[in-house]
Amino acid sequence: MSTTHPDSTEQLREAMQRRRLIPLWEMEAEIMGFRPNPTTQPWLWSWDDLYDTAERAGHLVTMERGGDRRAIALANPGQGGRPYATSTLWAAVQWLNGHEIAPAHRHTSQAIRFIIDGAGSYSTVEGDRVHLGRGDLVLTPPWTWHDHGSESDERAIWMDVLDIPLNNFLDAPFFEPHPEQSQEVTAAPDESVLKYGVGQLRPAWEAPITDRSPLQTYKWRDTQRALANLASVASDPFDDVALEYTNPHTGGPVMKTFTCWMQQLRPGTHTLAHRHTGSSVYMAFEGHGATIIDGTRFQWSAGDMFVIPSWATHEHVNGDPDAPALLFSVHDTPLLKALGKHRSEAHESSNGRQQVTAEFVVGEG
Ligand SMILES: [Fe+2]
Ligand SMILES: [Fe+2]
Repeated sequence: MSTTHPDSTEQLREAMQRRRLIPLWEMEAEIMGFRPNPTTQPWLWSWDDLYDTAERAGHLVTMERGGDRRAIALANPGQGGRPYATSTLWAAVQWLNGHEIAPAHRHTSQAIRFIIDGAGSYSTVEGDRVHLGRGDLVLTPPWTWHDHGSESDERAIWMDVLDIPLNNFLDAPFFEPHPEQSQEVTAAPDESVLKYGVGQLRPAWEAPITDRSPLQTYKWRDTQRALANLASVASDPFDDVALEYTNPHTGGPVMKTFTCWMQQLRPGTHTLAHRHTGSSVYMAFEGHGATIIDGTRFQWSAGDMFVIPSWATHEHVNGDPDAPALLFSVHDTPLLKALGKHRSEAHESSNGRQQVTAEFVVGEG
């Protein structure tokens, strides 16, 4: 032990820097916060901007390896220039020209697409081909082959959500192109819908499928019926008439890392405010309204996409007294629940709602 000269905290700090060591006593608040302090910002992308961008890309950008999906990702300004909507979720609008094929591939990122306008297009997932209709939810579980194509003269457009940021954070991405442009179709048309689409009944000779949802596509007509049925009997003070898409054999979410919802805000509804850990990406599907996030009002109408960061206080408004508004959304809640990190609380104020202090303006900031 050498004690030939007196030590100082400055010398200690320098030694630590050289040795790539950092003292907790100088970083504690930063790395072990009292509460979440996400870099992800509440944000909104308008349908006009999304559609215009996608349409122009449809004319200018061809689909070849390096870009075998014409997808335009939401880049949250809090994600340091990366194409991430939140710290766990990647979300995009995808455009497929008429008679075009988005080639087959597979990856370990879990994926869904929510169809805005299917226009004669299809998706094939592990040999099961489904035609895409407005409001359908299509699943691509991890490492399943999938390709998309169009059989019409018209373009198709949909929303994609994947857990790419999480997958990259975990250093777990794998990707493989299929040797063929389109995989062989081996199932009957809409087979998974016909086999598993009535969730409370399943083929008697089969065991429940628990590792992933047996249902590849959740058809809009079924979602719509479930929404109307639920709206006639029950609602939630924070989310009004909200449905979670589930694996019909487990009741669990459609993906291990995120879950999907369709919710109806009945005419004139203004929900109570709450907050919870986990981030969400929403798409206004029908109607118009607003979501107030940490005091800022985000006005939305059909096609707009917006982000609610973790622990941000939020409430939803459908100001229209005559028409319902519909929101499709994706939440990383299953991840937080599985890891014991889920927490939620109601907003405390005399009426359970926030004071609006700002209005979000598209294209500013
Ligand atoms: Fe993919
Ligand atoms: Fe919420």
